[in-house]
Order: sequence, then C-alpha cells, then structure tokens
Amino acid sequence: MSLKLIRTNTAEEAGAVAADIFEEQLKKKKDSVLGLATGSTPLPLYRELIRREKEGIIDFSEVKTFNLDEYKGLAPDHPQSYRRFMQENLFDHINIRPENTHVPQGLAVDPTAMCIGYDDMVRQAGLDIQLLGIGHDGHIGFNEPDICFPKFTHEVQLTSMTIEANARFFDSIDDVPKAAFTMGIGTIMTAKKIVMVVSGADKAGIMFDLLHGPVTPQLPASIIQFHNDVVVIGDHAALSRI
Ligand code: F6R
Repeated sequence: MSLKLIRTNTAEEAGAVAADIFEEQLKKKKDSVLGLATGSTPLPLYRELIRREKEGIIDFSEVKTFNLDEYKGLAPDHPQSYRRFMQENLFDHINIRPENTHVPQGLAVDPTAMCIGYDDMVRQAGLDIQLLGIGHDGHIGFNEPDICFPKFTHEVQLTSMTIEANARFFDSIDDVPKAAFTMGIGTIMTAKKIVMVVSGADKAGIMFDLLHGPVTPQLPASIIQFHNDVVVIGDHAALSRI
C-alpha cells in the first residue's frame, strides 16, 4: 500500500491541492483518462480546474472522462442528474469535447447492457486518475456497504442513509431515485492513481474507520488501503481524528 495523506486548512485548499495533481497528470499526458465524481466535495476542485483552463495552464482538448455514477430513471437534463451536474459544474466551462465525457445513462432501456458496455469502455480507456469522495456510510460511487466488493459497473438499490443524505438536492425525499448505476469497486481499483478528497467535520468518523479499520465491504472505501497509489486530501475538520 502507498497512501499519502495531505491535510489542508480548508475545503477550498483541498480542492487546489487536488487540482495540482490533475494539472501534473495533464501536463504529463495530454490525453489523460480521468474518473470523476459528483457531490459537494469536488466543487472546489472543479472551480480550480476551470480557472486553470481559462488561464491556459491546463488543456482538456484531448482528455477523456468517465463519471462514477448516475441515478437510475433520471434524464441527462434532469436538474438532479449527475450528467447535468457535470455539465454545469465542469464540462460547460472547459475545452473538453462533449463526446469525450461519459456518465452512465440513467434512462438506459437495457440497464444490464449499458452497465457492461460502460465497464468495458472504462477498462479499455484505462483510468489514469480516479477522483473519489466518501459517503457517511463509507460508500464510494454508489457502492453501499455490502457482503462483498462489487467488481463491475452495476445497478444498486440506494440505502435509506444515502437517500436521506441526497434528499437535500430534491424537492422532497420521495423524489430521490431509489436506484442508481455505479462503477464497481473492481472498476475503481483499475485506476492507476486514486485521489480521495474529503471535507467537513461530519466525515471525521468515517475517515477514522477508513484509515484505522479493517478492509471490509461493510465500509466499501476501505478497499483503497489495497491500492498502490492513493492520495487522500482532507481539511482539518475531516481529518481531526487521524
Ligand atoms: C458521487 C459519489 C459519491 C459521493 C459521496 C460524498 O459521484 O461518488 O460517492 O462522493 O456521496 O458526497 P459529498 O461530496 O456530497 O459529501
């Protein structure tokens, strides 16, 4: 295992440190393949990537991206879809080619075929970096606590904890989709490098369990202890127990 822990004062600073890693990667390889995440945590990173692209420091013209997950049943232009989130918070503001951005299809007619096709695409492209956040129950992507580590992109039923956590973005908790598509833990682990960003005091407990506890599918993110190139970037609040 090679896990590097970087502690920052603020969530903004954590985003800037993560942006440094992405910048270094894009300067090393113009056609890098990036695994991306949604949620609140990556926003400072995305703002920083947009700023650096505008200033000509980084160039996304040959970059390919693959997002971790998407809600089942939401159209790409639904206000809460992860495709729309990515358009609004990153893709619409940088010089990436639309056809080079990939998010699982929420409205797939044949979900099984879509998942297999997505997983094949990710593995063939080869992720240079996978960005991760972490849920309060230790989920990564939408891989919830389970009795085994899912290997491939698949459909998941969301736990009540995740539905409650995500309800803040919807008009009511009943509007939160009950299922989603996500890269599997096996898919995530194919990335050459994993960058986990974490912020806020509410993540302090799960970060303690992640870094000090055993590797178990009951805490899906614990698998990163077995990856050979991981950087965890957290603000003081999230890493206060480490
Ligand atoms: C979303 C994703 C999720 C989030 C996690 C934390 O694409 O992969 O696993 O990273 O739910 O979300 P935030 O950052 O909102 O606390």
